[in-house]
Amino acid sequence: MKYLLTPLPYSYDSLEPYIDVKTMEIHHTKHHQAYINNLNNVLEKYPQIAGIKLEDLMENLDKQPFDEKDKTIFRNNGGGHLNHSFFWTIMSPGKEFDENLVSDAKREFGSINEFKKLFTAAAMGRFGSGWAWLVLDKNKKLKVYSTANQDSPYLTGDIPVIGLDVWEHAYYLKYQNRRNEYIENWWNVLKLV
Ligand SMILES: [Fe+2]
Repeated sequence: MKYLLTPLPYSYDSLEPYIDVKTMEIHHTKHHQAYINNLNNVLEKYPQIAGIKLEDLMENLDKQPFDEKDKTIFRNNGGGHLNHSFFWTIMSPGKEFDENLVSDAKREFGSINEFKKLFTAAAMGRFGSGWAWLVLDKNKKLKVYSTANQDSPYLTGDIPVIGLDVWEHAYYLKYQNRRNEYIENWWNVLKLV
């Protein structure tokens, strides 16, 4: 079974002006597609794990039959596919998060503003390429952190709730070095309140 790039649930221009059409198109059709191609290539060598969910492979990475080189390829590209597939679904022009999440976040962090501050600090503090996350850990507790490269929260058994791609490919065309402006504007396509 090969993984395929699925169409976005909205058009490439629908997150304008916060995320520009060109960035969305390249990000989805080139970057995400490349992760999928590399993932399929590496999985092809290990038919014994075909059919196991990527999340499960990721959470139990050390128990898989990959050699060291392929383990890194899987971690980067399986992570790339999981992270991007998730990222597309949490954004939209009319996205509203459910009230339960909003009230859970308020309870955990004090207020939505406090949560945004923490999340922004995680996104800004990630040196180089990576992601900022709000996750649900194994004790059902909400946590904010960032990961390097394409590392997935599933590696540590956490379930993504909100994720922000802070690789330059996600914002450079419009924002160049202004990651802070990208993050600030991104909240507009992710309506929490
Ligand atoms: Fe990306």
